[in-house]
Amino acid sequence: MCGVVGYVGKEQAAPILLDGLAKLEYRGYDSAGVAVFGDSIKVQKCEGRLKVLHKKIKGGSSMSGTMGIGHTRWATHGEPSDANSHPHTSAEENVAVVHNGIIENYLELKDFLKNHGCVFTSDTDTEVIAHLIDHYHDHDPLKTLIKVMNKLEGSYALGIMFSENPGELYAVRKDSPLIVGLSKGGNFIASDIPAVLPHTRDVYLLNDKEIVRLTADAVKIFNTDEEPIKKDVYHVEWDVSSAEKGGYEHFMFKEIMEQPKAVRETVRPRVKRGKIVPDEFQMSPEDVKNIDKIHIIACGSAYHAGVVGKYLIEKMARIPVEVDLASEFLYRSPMITNRTLMLVISQSGETLDTLRALREAKRLGGRVLSVVNVVGSSIARESDDIIYTWAGPEIAVATTKAYSTQLAVIYLLAEYFAVQKGIKNAEQTAAFLDELAKIPAKIEQIIKNTENIQFLASQFAAAKDVFFLGRGIDYAVALEGSLKLKEISYVHSEAYAAGELKHGTISLIEKGTPVVALATQDELFDKIMSNIREVKARGAVVLAVVPENQPTAEQFADHVLYVPKTIPELTPSLAVIPLQLFGYYMAAERGCDIDKPRNLAKSVTVE
Ligand code: G6P
Repeated sequence: MCGVVGYVGKEQAAPILLDGLAKLEYRGYDSAGVAVFGDSIKVQKCEGRLKVLHKKIKGGSSMSGTMGIGHTRWATHGEPSDANSHPHTSAEENVAVVHNGIIENYLELKDFLKNHGCVFTSDTDTEVIAHLIDHYHDHDPLKTLIKVMNKLEGSYALGIMFSENPGELYAVRKDSPLIVGLSKGGNFIASDIPAVLPHTRDVYLLNDKEIVRLTADAVKIFNTDEEPIKKDVYHVEWDVSSAEKGGYEHFMFKEIMEQPKAVRETVRPRVKRGKIVPDEFQMSPEDVKNIDKIHIIACGSAYHAGVVGKYLIEKMARIPVEVDLASEFLYRSPMITNRTLMLVISQSGETLDTLRALREAKRLGGRVLSVVNVVGSSIARESDDIIYTWAGPEIAVATTKAYSTQLAVIYLLAEYFAVQKGIKNAEQTAAFLDELAKIPAKIEQIIKNTENIQFLASQFAAAKDVFFLGRGIDYAVALEGSLKLKEISYVHSEAYAAGELKHGTISLIEKGTPVVALATQDELFDKIMSNIREVKARGAVVLAVVPENQPTAEQFADHVLYVPKTIPELTPSLAVIPLQLFGYYMAAERGCDIDKPRNLAKSVTVE
């Protein structure tokens, strides 16, 4: 939700800021702006994609100065418009600010500032920050920012420039991500690492309420007592090319294609000599037996991975599992004790609802194990234990490879708990791990042959509604397939537990309504085929996803997509792939902006 960049150094700032924003556009893309400090602070900003700003400032060449801040917006307070775009400034342009997050008490602060004569030119909460900084400004930026932070409630990652401090860029964060990039040619701030990777692989990962002063050749970090903080430099191992399209038309397609590698890299380091070694996270058999409940919290696709987790952990390790949307967990008096293991799943590690739910779970005494993709992210840092998904940077708003790696971690954990509880012996675990090791090659098999999926998408492209059906673990995958389709193609879709359809939703099925039915579980195959009959009797056109050993599906469905055979527990990893591709090709057929679907952002740092 909004991307923030900043640079101070020896080069011209504006082109660097534009390049950085291009890497962060996945965070928001309804307007963009930069402020550059030449002789004074100059702001240029406008509604629309980054390319509109790019054109307006001639690739940055129309703005001169070696320090600046930039922003790409996902509107929260006030519609996308030139006036609401960031940076925001104080009346005299003494202060310029870019902001990611939400200031919850902004109305109260706005009233306070209005009473002191401030005139507001936008509907944003961010403009309040610019005026507030100006109001408390006492010619000592550090002291001023501490005062302002004490007044702000909510979340923020801020880049700030003061007109009376040329060559000094300031940044602070609370509950919104922000990193500092360190290089000989200058120093950077950014919401995410890809924005600084063309310049440096050395970064600081900031903690909440840290204040940073950057100059061309130094970076100093302070706490709110004005004491300097020493920080370890985090060296980014992955390559800049991982965050680039590399010849593919869309990041989403590239990321779908990267899934075999991502799953392999997530599983491999955790399997040693036929045993599961989930990193530093270790639980003795007694510890595992002592868990009376696993409580999964997540949002979006990570939640869907959590639903798979519920089915599998209960089935394989016989531990009761609850799975909650993080945004609901907070407000429903959850029952957590010190015998609850909280499993928090998040690609970005920054989703605010998930982060807040994590904090609440800890407060209630739960032990938190998180499954996170972004190293050093807030959720990773605040958890008791972390298992990283090694998916690499994921740029497309619609997640694919991160979801697949979350599934891989869930398989490992379910099996690990089963082993620790003595439910599985060494031989059974070896057989399970053997099957798991074959999953990447089986995904490869599916993604090598996408023409039939593309063809089917072309047949269904005009659909108004699509329903996804599944039973058991297939229902969990149906949820993800349905989300993939609707978020990028804007076709209304819903996922239903196949047995539930007849309790209302079947009334929506009419002649020609596409229904995608998942039938990967042999023991549920006949039941799903009956459900297919029911919807076909009402005119539905059915596309079934089944394993290779179930060709009889062709007698029931209009179209059949086959996935390789595996053991029942691992089918989600294979069944989801054709659904991702189906969503992708539907969106392509319909001319949608696949990597940047309307109204969405990849990292949701607002509640
Ligand atoms: C956004 C993304 C989804 C993602 C969800 C949770 O809505 O578009 O793809 O599943 O946030 O994000 P997280 O980073 O916590 O996995």
